[in-house]
Amino acid sequence: MAFLIKLLLAAAVGWSAVSATPLAARVFHDDPRVPSGYKVLRRAAPHTILPFRIGLRQSNIEDIEEYLLDVSHPESPNYGKHWSAAQVAETFRPSQESVESVHSWLVESGIDVSRIRLSASGAWVQANVTIVEAERLLETEYYIYEHEETAGKHIACGQGYTLPAAVAPHVDIVLPTIHFDAKRRGRRSMKRSGSGPGNAAGSSGRPVADANANTSELANCDKNITLACLRVLYNFPEFPTHAVSSNRTIGIVEYTPQAYTPEDLDMFFKTYSPSQVGERPNEVDIDGGTIHVNSTSTGLFGESNLDLQYAMGILGRSQDVILYQNGDLVEGSSFDNFLDALDGSFCTFEGGDDPSQDSIYPDPAPGGFKGPENCGQAPLAHVISTSYGTNEASLTPAYAQRQCAEYAKLGLMGTTVLYSSGDEGVSGHGELCIAPNGTEVAGTGAFNPTFPGVCPFVTSVGATQVNPGASVHDPESSCQQVIFPGGGFSNVFALPSYQKTAVETYLTKFPPPYSPTQFNSTGKSRGFPDISANGANYIVAVLGEFEHVFGTSCATPVSAAFFAAINDARAAQNKSSLGFINPTIYSSKFKDAFNDITNGTNPGCGTEGFAAQPGWDPLTGLGTPNVEKLLQLFLELP
Ligand SMILES: *[C@@H]1O[C@H](CO)[C@@H](O)[C@H](O)[C@H]1NC(C)=O
Ligand SMILES: *[C@@H]1O[C@H](CO)[C@@H](O)[C@H](O)[C@H]1NC(C)=O
Ligand SMILES: *[C@@H]1O[C@H](CO)[C@@H](O)[C@H](O)[C@H]1NC(C)=O
Ligand SMILES: *[C@@H]1O[C@H](CO)[C@@H](O)[C@H](O)[C@H]1NC(C)=O
Ligand SMILES: *[C@@H]1O[C@H](CO)[C@@H](O)[C@H](O)[C@H]1NC(C)=O
Ligand SMILES: *[C@@H]1O[C@H](CO)[C@@H](O)[C@H](O)[C@H]1NC(C)=O
Ligand SMILES: *[C@@H]1O[C@H](CO)[C@@H](O)[C@H](O)[C@H]1NC(C)=O
Ligand SMILES: *[C@@H]1O[C@H](CO)[C@@H](O)[C@H](O)[C@H]1NC(C)=O
Ligand SMILES: *[C@@H]1O[C@H](CO)[C@@H](O)[C@H](O)[C@H]1NC(C)=O
Repeated sequence: MAFLIKLLLAAAVGWSAVSATPLAARVFHDDPRVPSGYKVLRRAAPHTILPFRIGLRQSNIEDIEEYLLDVSHPESPNYGKHWSAAQVAETFRPSQESVESVHSWLVESGIDVSRIRLSASGAWVQANVTIVEAERLLETEYYIYEHEETAGKHIACGQGYTLPAAVAPHVDIVLPTIHFDAKRRGRRSMKRSGSGPGNAAGSSGRPVADANANTSELANCDKNITLACLRVLYNFPEFPTHAVSSNRTIGIVEYTPQAYTPEDLDMFFKTYSPSQVGERPNEVDIDGGTIHVNSTSTGLFGESNLDLQYAMGILGRSQDVILYQNGDLVEGSSFDNFLDALDGSFCTFEGGDDPSQDSIYPDPAPGGFKGPENCGQAPLAHVISTSYGTNEASLTPAYAQRQCAEYAKLGLMGTTVLYSSGDEGVSGHGELCIAPNGTEVAGTGAFNPTFPGVCPFVTSVGATQVNPGASVHDPESSCQQVIFPGGGFSNVFALPSYQKTAVETYLTKFPPPYSPTQFNSTGKSRGFPDISANGANYIVAVLGEFEHVFGTSCATPVSAAFFAAINDARAAQNKSSLGFINPTIYSSKFKDAFNDITNGTNPGCGTEGFAAQPGWDPLTGLGTPNVEKLLQLFLELP
């Protein structure tokens, strides 16, 4: 990965040169980018104060993939020997050398020592500086940009910026520089992947006439997916270890104002899992998270009800289900805000978050969450399922890489992280593709992968379907109704070693008929998704009615529940949690534990997208799980 490349060597040596000739060599630190919809209004006023923050490069971060493989590769002698939170914090805390390098640069550029602070986490250097000072530090120009639709104003240096060559290797990210506000206030760029028919147009899902008709449940899996269908499709007849009480947990992540309704859980359980009526998730509210959403819009209740009804329904009573409810009703929340709550060493509560992407708490707006941002207090579940995503192209590489490394840390601590792969084929959310100048544009252009699924340290989940008219025992296809699963190749993240054979085989045997400008066809970039599961026609109780729901949003919590069940079985044998599963599931031993999906495409950006093929492919991954086989194989591991 770009950020794992060792560029540090010159730094220690070059350091003294900085003091002598501060402006000597400079390097571009981030690509220029101005998202579509923004135009320049004017130069920023010279004496405007910027809350300037420099995210330091974490120590040893270039080795994080190696550390992760050491505890996650099935052939490693340290498989399953996960790290403690303290060990993670200690290993990646920025070095004193990095702190000093950045500090000296600021001082030598005329920022008085008294104005400079180091965050408690040791990861951020901060100073309030004027535009004039910031422009001098970064050798750039700041402008006020305006969004054409919302008229929202934003200060940025869209043409990019440079750092002294000797300082650059110590820096991950500088804020504010080139990140632009997402269009909407509130949920910002959080996009749920779930999609009921017509949801995009704002209408409610299609009510189902009589979902109570139990007798034909298994005969109708091409029309109505239920728990019974999923158990047969994925060879998961019943929970394997319900006698075992383990401490293993699964966490379902939701972003306010998305919320579940207790009545809907019971309506679903009553019909499909009667013994669970009355069961609730353990709600962990983060940054003012709440399920008390005062609305009758089914669009706000589909995702959480889907995720909880199916994750809880698949698991039965046997395991604690944590609901991570993120963000208040005013400001909303981001993936980084959630990660802050899980990991105090990532948390940047003294201002390290990027205000254009992340919510800043306490929230000054009326009705906003007044507490300090949650920082490291949330319990870390053993499996975490998130059915939200954003477009890789909407984030700067530095921001995406910093967040991606954090998922590797969760893996080091023994957590399996799953993200849905997106619902719009090879195009990004909003059917946006990438123009030659790097901005996102509707309809045509290069393929636009979904983040964080495209991060090599998470498990990305695509969606399949039972073909119309086919039985639950027939091979599934990639989902070809209502949604097409996201999938493709990253423009930011390099090919991880565990995926090398899979990706090379796909590109060699089935070269996609597209030019190298449409997607990274070098075979050197991360391909996604990793696995898939059914994502068509789920019966979900939403505001008192059964609806059909589609999407990789469906496939993700179901897959997560399977891995959580396997965690319990391993706990019963006193074995570690699964942690990061990708190196294991891509290994040749696990080949037969997935049903290969070979039919379907994921259109987008004016193309047919990629095609499902024998073996791994960038729309269904390795295929759908055969849980019984996965269970046996995972139990064979130490
Ligand atoms: C920057 O200014 C803000 C607002 O005046 C203040 O709250 C904050 O403490 C200052 N930060 C630093 C590092 O001086
Ligand atoms: C499946 O859904 C349809 C409505 O789309 C409904 O008429 C039918 O009864 C359902 N079948 C079962 C077995 O639930
Ligand atoms: C379906 O429901 C009927 C009554 O509503 C019941 O007699 C029957 O046993 C049920 N079948 C199954 C397979 O649960
Ligand atoms: C696991 O659960 C047992 C009994 O419920 C409890 O005694 C033990 O402290 C828990 N262990 C951890 C690590 O939470
Ligand atoms: C919910 O919204 C309605 C309509 O805006 C309002 O009349 C009602 O007081 C609100 N209820 C709560 C509990 O906020
Ligand atoms: C980038 O290209 C798109 C599509 O060609 C165009 O609409 C947009 O204005 C360009 N943006 C910049 C900043 O050049
Ligand atoms: C492939 O999927 C389509 C639905 O999109 C279905 O009509 C067709 O029968 C499938 N073919 C095979 C071989 O499964
Ligand atoms: C493709 O991805 C690799 C790995 O990230 C990168 O080195 C290469 O420059 C990319 N190629 C193109 C054409 O973007
Ligand atoms: C379970 O694992 C723990 C920690 O590795 C160990 O101390 C304990 O002896 C093991 N118990 C059994 C029954 O194997």
